[in-house]
Amino acid sequence: MNFKNELDKLEIFERVGRVADELGLETYVVGGYVRDLILKRPSKDIDFVCVGSGIALAQKVAESFDHHVPLNVFKNFGTANIRLEDWDIEFVGARKESYRHDSRKPIVEDGTLQEDQERRDFTINAMAISVNSKNYGELIDPFDGVKDIKRKLIKTPTDPILTFSDDPLRMMRAVRFASQLNFDIHPDTFDAIIHDAHRLQIVSAERIIDELNKIILVEKPSYGFKLLFVSNLLHQFFPEMVELQGVDSVGDKSHKDNFYHTLQVLDNICLNTEDLWLRWAAIMHDIGKPPTKRFNNKVGWTFHGHEDKGARMVPALFRRLKLPMDERMKYVQKLVRLHLRPIALVSDKVTDSAIRRLLFDAGDDVDDLMTLCRADITSKNNNKVQRFLANFDKVEQKIIEVEEKDHVRNFQPPVSGEEIMAKFDLQPSKIVGELKEEIKEAILEGQIQNNKDEALDLLYKLAARKGILKK
Ligand code: CTP
Repeated sequence: MNFKNELDKLEIFERVGRVADELGLETYVVGGYVRDLILKRPSKDIDFVCVGSGIALAQKVAESFDHHVPLNVFKNFGTANIRLEDWDIEFVGARKESYRHDSRKPIVEDGTLQEDQERRDFTINAMAISVNSKNYGELIDPFDGVKDIKRKLIKTPTDPILTFSDDPLRMMRAVRFASQLNFDIHPDTFDAIIHDAHRLQIVSAERIIDELNKIILVEKPSYGFKLLFVSNLLHQFFPEMVELQGVDSVGDKSHKDNFYHTLQVLDNICLNTEDLWLRWAAIMHDIGKPPTKRFNNKVGWTFHGHEDKGARMVPALFRRLKLPMDERMKYVQKLVRLHLRPIALVSDKVTDSAIRRLLFDAGDDVDDLMTLCRADITSKNNNKVQRFLANFDKVEQKIIEVEEKDHVRNFQPPVSGEEIMAKFDLQPSKIVGELKEEIKEAILEGQIQNNKDEALDLLYKLAARKGILKK
C-alpha cells in the first residue's frame, strides 16, 4: 500500500523526508497518526521514528524553516518535538527492548524499524509509512495492522504477556481503543489481560484515569465498562463500582442489577451530554447502594439513604482515583445527593415550596439534575418510561414557573449577616446565623416573598420575639 497522496496533503512529510535523506536516516511516520490516517480520523499528533538519532533529526527539521520553530529536547528519553501551529510533531530514534528475568524494567537500546514496531502496543499502532524519497509513502506493516483495522480487532503484535509486562497500562489502552473504535479485543490478547489484570496495581492512578476518562467520553461507554469488568481491570481501581454488580434474591423478592442499570443510565445520559462530569455523576449516582442494601420481609430489598451515602463516598473516590478535588467533585457530589429529589416531586399535589427547595439546593445545576433523572429511567416497559418522562416534563414546567415567580435558583440572602449585626448591634454569633436561616426558610416555605422589604419586616418581628430589638 502507498500513502503518497495522503502525505502530500501536509508539507511536513516531504520536508522531514528531505532532511532525513540529507542526514542519511531511514525515517517513518508511525503509530497513532498512521492508524488514524487509515481510519480517516482527524489527528494533530505526528510521530516520526528514524533509525538513528531522533533528536538530531528534529534539530535539523526545526532549522530547515525560515521562521523560528519551537523545539523541545528530552535528552533522557532520546526524544524531541516541535510545534507547528496546532500540530505536535515528535521525533524519536527506533528502539528495541529486551527483558531480564530478574527485573520488570526493560533495557532500551537502539534498534531497527522492525524491532521498534515489535515493541509497540497493538498491531493497529505498529504501522509505519516511509518519508525517505526512495520509498516515500510506502506502508510497512509487518503485523497486519491494516487487516486488523478491517477486522476491527485490537491485538498485540507479539506475545501479549510480553507486551503487557512492558507497560501494564496497555491493558487499559486495549479497552480504550476498543471503546473508541468499536473494535473487539482478540481472544489471546483478552486472555492475557485477564491473566495480568492485577498488574495494573503498579500503574499510577493518573495514567489509569486518563484512559478511563477517554472511555467515558465515547458515544456508548457501557461497552468499555463491560470489558473492564469482565477482564477484572475494573476491580483493580474501582471496586465500589464492581460491588454494584449482582442480584440478590430472598424467596420471590429480588432487586435489579445495579451495575448494568448504572451502565444503562450512563449510555442514556451520553445521548444528551458530552460533559465528562455529568457522565461521572451518572456513573456514581447509585454508588451508595451496596453499603445501604437491606432486606425487609414486607417490602423486599431497600437502599434507604443511598443517595446520601453515595454523596459522602464521592470525595474519597475522587481523591483515590486522582480526579480533581475541586468544584467538579462538588458538582458530582451534589447530583448524586439530589438524584432522587425530582422523582419525589412527580405528583399532582407537589407544592411550590418543594420545588423552591429543589431549586435552592440544585441552583444552576438543576437542568443537569433533570438530565440525570431522565437518564435514570431504565425500565424495559416502554409505556412506563413514557409515563415517567411525561411526569418529568410536568416537574420541569413547574420548575420554570416557580423560578420565574420566586427567583431562588441562585438564592442570595436578601439580608446579609453584616446587616443583621449592624441593625441590632451584634457580634458574629450563633443568633445571626439563626436569623438568616429563619428568613431563608420563610422564603422557601412561601411565607414571605424573596425580597428585601419582606425579609426586613420578618427580621424585625423575629428580633422582637428573641428580645434583641434595640429600644
Ligand atoms: N505506545 C505503546 N505503548 C504505550 C503507549 C504508546 O506502544 N503504552 C505507542 C503506540 O504505537 C502508539 C504510539 O506509541 O500508537 C503513540 O502513543 P500515544 O500518543 O499515547 O497514543 P496514540 O496511539 O497516538 O493514540 P491517542 O492519540 O488516541 O492517545
